Amino acid sequence: MCGIVGYIGNQDAKEILLKGLEKLEYRGYDSAGIAVQNDNGVTVFKEKGRIADLREHVDTDVLATTGIGHTRWATHGVPSKVNAHPHQSTSSRFTIVHNGVIENYSMIKREELSDVSFVSETDTEVIVQLIEKRVNEGNSVEASFRLALKSLKGSYAIALLDNQNEEVIYVAKNKSPLLVGLGESFNVVASDAMAMLQVTDQFVELMDKEIVIVTKENVTIKTLEGEVIERAPYTAELDASDIEKGTYPHYMLKEIDEQPLVTRKIIQAYQDINGDLTIDSDIVRTVNDADRIYIVACGTSYHAGLVGKQFIETMAKKPVEVHVASEFSYNMPLLSEKPLFIFISQSGETADSRAVLVQVKEMGHKAITITNVPGSTLSREADYTLLLHAGPEIAVASTKAYTAQLAVLAILANVTAKATGKDVNFDLVQELGIVANAMEVLCDAKEEMEELARNYLATTRNCFFIGRGIDFYVGLEGALKLKEISYIQAEGFAGGELKHGTIALIEDGTPVIALATQESVNLSIRGNVKEVAARGANPCIISMKGLEEEEDAFVLPEVHSLLTPLISVIALQLISYYAALHRDCDVDKPRNLAKSVTVE
Ligand code: M6R
Repeated sequence: MCGIVGYIGNQDAKEILLKGLEKLEYRGYDSAGIAVQNDNGVTVFKEKGRIADLREHVDTDVLATTGIGHTRWATHGVPSKVNAHPHQSTSSRFTIVHNGVIENYSMIKREELSDVSFVSETDTEVIVQLIEKRVNEGNSVEASFRLALKSLKGSYAIALLDNQNEEVIYVAKNKSPLLVGLGESFNVVASDAMAMLQVTDQFVELMDKEIVIVTKENVTIKTLEGEVIERAPYTAELDASDIEKGTYPHYMLKEIDEQPLVTRKIIQAYQDINGDLTIDSDIVRTVNDADRIYIVACGTSYHAGLVGKQFIETMAKKPVEVHVASEFSYNMPLLSEKPLFIFISQSGETADSRAVLVQVKEMGHKAITITNVPGSTLSREADYTLLLHAGPEIAVASTKAYTAQLAVLAILANVTAKATGKDVNFDLVQELGIVANAMEVLCDAKEEMEELARNYLATTRNCFFIGRGIDFYVGLEGALKLKEISYIQAEGFAGGELKHGTIALIEDGTPVIALATQESVNLSIRGNVKEVAARGANPCIISMKGLEEEEDAFVLPEVHSLLTPLISVIALQLISYYAALHRDCDVDKPRNLAKSVTVE
């Protein structure tokens, strides 16, 4: 979380920094700031709230060609102007922006900086004060920066200004993402290439424990020991229009609507010249060599993992466990003899998942990352990557990444099953094509979905999602979507579990959204609906064509029974979207959340 930008060149830095921060706002949006530097020194502007609030307070008369900026998701200290970045050292000589968490900040404060009076509650201020202390001890700025970094435990992406040298931005990273972008007589710094596509598509990846000296003409990467490292730039293959809302009122709605297209793109991306589904043969061999697969992920990606387990176990007949990343490290299950880890992460940057990846790599196990972001940390650090091809997902609530994850997991299951001669008795290319068409029907049913949201969720405090088998997993995702953007207390339950406790929560009018897409459990889930209705609930049944009954609120177009999550979820995404709109919630940037969760 938190986004960082920097610019050094010949143009006025303010607008470039502000525009960059707007593109990074998905990473955190509780406060923001920029620091710009000219002959008169460094000027800091910061505000609580969004980039738009910051923009109003930036003095347009201050012209400067060097600057850094930050958009914050609070970890240490409440969201406030004083805790907003940039932070400065006591003499104001050094100005810093930081993304990450310094785990030993209180120890450094106590042992090294006991005579310093701190202005903010942040861990970040410790870094800038420590740098100043090292400079006061007689070290050069670069050496002080390196020395300070060596004292830090935790994660950081940092950009630093020295008000005695307008010609340099000092940069470093460890565990938090950071890139340097290259231009003609200018260079930039950004947490994500998206932020600087406005000025360049040439980027250099930074590795952990490197520092970078960025001037307008040069970018010098060094180790913490001062050894220079050469690294070629790459071209960011992002289309600037992919990160615009276009005519949509919200990114979330745009991304929901992109799902049919993304599904078709995925089919193409994983087809060989004969039209057969294909995956790198090393990956297929690795999957088939494993005796058990451990899927590790968070949030929506975890929910995709649950459905992925069904795909892999049904098609490839390989046992799969699915684990929440944040629990895995200290609650590790007994591993099989030949485990394979699959990390699912839209962003490829989620710190909880990354911590597990580091741990299992140290144990010598193989790992595959399924991600939307090529070159992301989880992609770089795993043995193999399978890409989602979903295009940038900006809304905090994940939508198209979820269905893309399901499509890629289905393809992985299918290809690995076929490689070992398992009988997969359906044509996945054809079935995913049918899914893409059915997704379009769902995307065209916005009015019906808005009406369902109005009828069932307009005034409710809570809402339950029930389903059995694969529908239960989709219910979990529907509940997450609804709660994160509408703040309605929502939970997903296995239909059969209600009577073991949860049914006590059913009151007159409690909305219960039931998914009925599976013939094998259709009667049972409808039985559960009757149980809650008998206790006053207001059931909303979403069924699959062929299984529908008169009382159903919406009937989904028919797709293969294993692939129903790819379309039933769209109904739940749209219902959540409209429920949030009806409550005037900020759909794309829900409270307390951030898109890329880079702290553990
Ligand atoms: O980037 P990741 O897929 O690793 O992110 C995992 C979760 O943080 C993410 O899915 C989160 O739950 C979304 N906000 C859900 O909409």
